[in-house]
Parts: sequence; structure tokens; C-alpha cells
Amino acid sequence: MANLTINGKVIDLDVEPDTPLLWAIRENAGLTGTKYGCGIAQCGACTVHLDGAAVRSCGVTVSEAVGKQITTIEGLASDGGLHKVQQAWLENDVPQCGYCQSGMIMAVAALLKDNPKPSDQDINDAITNICRCGTFAQVREAIHAAANA
Ligand code: FES
Ligand code: FES
Repeated sequence: MANLTINGKVIDLDVEPDTPLLWAIRENAGLTGTKYGCGIAQCGACTVHLDGAAVRSCGVTVSEAVGKQITTIEGLASDGGLHKVQQAWLENDVPQCGYCQSGMIMAVAALLKDNPKPSDQDINDAITNICRCGTFAQVREAIHAAANA
């Protein structure tokens, strides 16, 4: 059993401590907005926030997440509405198939928290998520739009 705090709620999950956090989020907590792409911390589809920092949840164990605030795409918006990154994504028509996009949005939200006006180089350095549909140009535009929102 493990106690995880996901999107502000403490939940008891029947998982082994060395289970990848991604499985606990998807299979045990039922939050399927976080996607499985590569399973080896390369693609970024599984990105969530741990205490506000972007992490690739396939590469983090449940035991490493105990006691931390886990935020998934389902918890990014607040009562006040969509997160500014989600809003910029909609306004700039970023997604194509959508598969990589929740991880991309979580990575960008963490970047803008630490660096509210990132340069193109900052974006290149920080956002290494892979998009098979090649939405990288729209992602960059939407990041600048969110930064200026
Ligand atoms: S599924 Fe975690 S980085 Fe690809
Ligand atoms: S929108 Fe299809 S993989 Fe990124």
C-alpha cells in the first residue's frame, strides 16, 4: 500500500513501492490523461509535477513520490479556469493526435513557473518532449503566447 497525494487528494493505493509512478497514476488512480510512450524516461508523454517540478513519471517509483504533491494534467486547471498554458494551447491549435500533449503541457507549465519569459534557447533546453506529429513550431508559439498572457 502507498499513500499518494494526487491533485490535492490523499489516496491509498494497493501498489508495490518500486512500481513506476506512471502505472500508479494510470492503473490504480485511474487518471489516464498521463500517457505511456517509451517507458524509459525519453519521450516525456508521462510528464507530471512532483512538488511543482516536471518529472517523467515512468522513471520515478511510487516510494519516491510518497509525501510529495503530485499534479497530473487532470489537476492543472484551477477553479478559476484553465491554466494559461492550456488556454494558449487551445488558442494556438497546438495538438494534432494529442497523444504527447498532456506531457508537453505539464513540462511547459513547470518551465514557465521557473522562467516566466523563456527564450527560444531556454525552450529548446527545457522542453525535450517528443511529438510524433511534429507540433514543435506550434508548441514554441504557444509557449510565447502563454508567457505573454
Ligand atoms: S513514457 Fe515516460 S518518458 Fe516516455
Ligand atoms: S500531437 Fe501527436 S504525438 Fe504530439
